[in-house]
Amino acid sequence: MTRIVPVATFDYVVFGGTGDLAVRKLLPALYHRYLDRQIPEDARIIAASRSEFDRQTYLAHVDERARAHVPASTFDEAAWRRFLDHIDYVSVDARRDEGWNTLARTLSAAQDRVRVFYLATSPDLFGQICQRLKAADLVTPQARIVLEKPVGHNLETARSINEQVGAVFAEHQIFRIDHYLGKETVQNLMALRFANALLEPLWSNAWIDHVQITAAETVGVGSRGEYYGRTGALRDMVQNHLLQLLCLVAMEPPVRLDQDDVRDEKLKVLRALRPITAETVAACTVRGQYRAGAIGGASVPGYAEEVESAEARDAETFVALKVEIDSWRWSGVPFYLRTGKRMTERTSQIVVQFKPVPHSIFPAESGAIEPNRLVMRLQPDEGVTLHLMGKDPGPGGLRLRPTPLNLSFAEAFGVRYPDAYERLLMDVVRGNSTLFMRRDEVEAAWTWIDPILQGWAQNSQAPKPYTAGTWGPAGAIALIERDGRTWHED
Ligand code: BG6
Repeated sequence: MTRIVPVATFDYVVFGGTGDLAVRKLLPALYHRYLDRQIPEDARIIAASRSEFDRQTYLAHVDERARAHVPASTFDEAAWRRFLDHIDYVSVDARRDEGWNTLARTLSAAQDRVRVFYLATSPDLFGQICQRLKAADLVTPQARIVLEKPVGHNLETARSINEQVGAVFAEHQIFRIDHYLGKETVQNLMALRFANALLEPLWSNAWIDHVQITAAETVGVGSRGEYYGRTGALRDMVQNHLLQLLCLVAMEPPVRLDQDDVRDEKLKVLRALRPITAETVAACTVRGQYRAGAIGGASVPGYAEEVESAEARDAETFVALKVEIDSWRWSGVPFYLRTGKRMTERTSQIVVQFKPVPHSIFPAESGAIEPNRLVMRLQPDEGVTLHLMGKDPGPGGLRLRPTPLNLSFAEAFGVRYPDAYERLLMDVVRGNSTLFMRRDEVEAAWTWIDPILQGWAQNSQAPKPYTAGTWGPAGAIALIERDGRTWHED
């Protein structure tokens, strides 16, 4: 059963209101929360951006573009119209004085309510926007600020952003969003680990052989070429999403499900990551970039054809890494991470591969015993599969066969799975930052990522080509097969 707990009323100000993220994710997420009656009738969404729109033009823009990102099964014309009534638009320029008075006037009608500033803009504007919010006297005690990832481009810029934002907002008002933490399976990982006695005794190097984390996409960089060219897959996906997943798999049980207890444990994992340096980077990482190919029967162009500038052409669209955690629990258990665009299929999953049984009592004719594997699917078809060995039914001797124990959440619970942003946007209003990154976490992640970037630069490790529609460059397969293991791909 779904349970909807209405939140306090709010003003949600979305900077970057005409951008890709607002249109594709934030507005559809707010619409779904509205549809479920979680959003009070007097709440307001105020889109802000440089475009010289008036409210009607903006609403027409949203109506034309955002509605396409609401699935037909949840689209209700009357509710959508009512939802649009809650949206206002202010033209404001982060780099200039224009528009800030209008924003202040719009907000002045409701001084005491929760006020969220969502910065869906380039991170180099974060500091300036905060300064201007302060100068316009908009930072009330009930204000919160949401920073989209990546926070910074490296440790130095992340620190500087954190300083600038921290000069205006207290840490408890700052929400550094990583939408992977809002995915159902990711939260379910905590339930599986800590609400069952069964797994935790096995959750260590005593019984686990290795862990794989994959986030594969079929989409290319599309219209985000400029951003992507400056960023690349390591900064775009690994620094945040993949490392966060790794932390949730590897962390010690927090004392309680409290924002700082959970984040303290994740931080310890980040600090225990073995550094990858210029000496080890070639052995532990693989960079890739897609060339033209075909996905689902349709031809797609290569990355270099999709971006304009020469610098952008150096970015990796795929990365695979072998990561070690130097701790008692995980010593000797590699975590293999990979993420890429234009891959064979869209799939994100965590695979925990257990060790083989210590001794087989079965004769060779019974068949091979495959080690157990726990697969947590983030998308598509969220769920968990535990691969066990069983007996082939019927007579003919005891023959062993792998038997998946499959829990598909959609089938089991029969509910619509909310988009990750839906939960996170409401958590901001509630002031609950458990599923957001704390400043020290972001900086610890960059501390580990920076030497990889430096190692690549120092060794001139250029991205290896892979054909769109495949699982990445051959080196990614070699990375794991060298250790006698294979990527799990079904
Ligand atoms: C974003 C990245 O954070 O995550 C995108 O910037 C990527 O490049 C996206 O496409 C993937 O999210 P999801 O939820 O579709 O796996």
